[in-house]
Amino acid sequence: MCEPEWPQPGRTRFIVPPPVGLHGTGMVDPEPEMLRSLDAQHVMMMGDNPALKRFPKAPTLLDFFHLRFPDITFRHLLTSAQRAMEAGESETVIMACLLHDIANGLLIRSDHGYWGAQMVAPYVSEEVAWAVQYHQALRYFADETVGYKYPDSYLRFFGPDYVPPDYIRQDAELARNHRWYITSRKVTIYDIYFFDNSPTPDPEIFTDLIARNFRQPEQGLGFDGSPVAHMWRTAIWPNNFL
Ligand SMILES: [Fe+2]
Ligand SMILES: [Fe+2]
Repeated sequence: MCEPEWPQPGRTRFIVPPPVGLHGTGMVDPEPEMLRSLDAQHVMMMGDNPALKRFPKAPTLLDFFHLRFPDITFRHLLTSAQRAMEAGESETVIMACLLHDIANGLLIRSDHGYWGAQMVAPYVSEEVAWAVQYHQALRYFADETVGYKYPDSYLRFFGPDYVPPDYIRQDAELARNHRWYITSRKVTIYDIYFFDNSPTPDPEIFTDLIARNFRQPEQGLGFDGSPVAHMWRTAIWPNNFL
């Protein structure tokens, strides 16, 4: 039996941005007007948005790099991981560098270390997920003993008078005393923004490392029934109304 075609050809599909992307921005929430405009020819966006690149049936980690990452995240993660690789770091450190800002590229910026760690936890070692989570807090605190100073980029991003909130201070302190501290600290050391025209590494150079360090589910990310599958599906279909 054939599936009914949806949406019917010629229908307009409205995209309502998620509330978390609108709060406090001054942008007008389009939902009320869109709800009023629904009719036979106007429906809400569900499923594949024709404006976005389409995923294969069983998406892999690198598919998300190629099909969803904005250019900045794409270059930033690959360059961080490449720097770690060239410095001869362990596969754990390189993998953590490759994933550390995945939430910024796919889901959400606020508390990106925590979101990112949760997203990858079922597929990587506990240490990699831990390093991803705590790099967020450690970024704000210099550690001269390992050559990490407060980032110039943060002076520009937040201004010289920015003070991190208590939960960040507490988590940085916890991380500092943890046995995996140096793994997460190394993520912060290779975590540098490149706004120049340095060449972007080819993601394929990490194929073997990913195969050894990321448990790619057979059904594809988003479709393996894991506790975080919905996070990957949200990246595939970011414009779904519900
Ligand atoms: Fe980060
Ligand atoms: Fe980063």
